[in-house]
Amino acid sequence: MIASIYKYGSSVLRKKSAEISEKEDFVLLSENLFETLSNSNGIGLAGPQIGVLKRIFVIDTSLITQKDNSIETIKQVYINPSIVWRSEELIVYSEGCLSIPEIYEEVERPERIRVKYHDLQFSSIEKELEGLEARIFQHEFDHLIGVLFIDRINPLKRIQLASKLKKIVKASKK
Ligand code: NI
Repeated sequence: MIASIYKYGSSVLRKKSAEISEKEDFVLLSENLFETLSNSNGIGLAGPQIGVLKRIFVIDTSLITQKDNSIETIKQVYINPSIVWRSEELIVYSEGCLSIPEIYEEVERPERIRVKYHDLQFSSIEKELEGLEARIFQHEFDHLIGVLFIDRINPLKRIQLASKLKKIVKASKK
């Protein structure tokens, strides 16, 4: 089912998400996330963005790998994710968000991270991520704690974006 995506200004994007238990229907939830993501031409989508305050997000990089086949496609569900280690080395990358349409800004984040999560079989996975997957993981992980990428950009840039952000808030309240 394709869900509607909550936009900047919606309070659900600022709330903390709850752990998912093995008994919950996370398979259906992940299918809804994947369908909504591919319908909106994005590469990552988290529960709160479709109004579900659960610790789950999906990544599907096929939109990028279609154009650049030097990168392997990542299509993965991350349930109850956590970041257990962050590299001291930071890297700048331009980010966007389906909840903040048409805004792209550079965000500095750790280059590599070590993460834990459950996969679709609810098996525990622990691994080190780098590159695109590390970047998207950190962006989506932020959604589960009510943080948006514009919170992490240069404050002057954020002031410059104020009128654009106001327009998104207005449009989402219609
Ligand atoms: Ni986002």
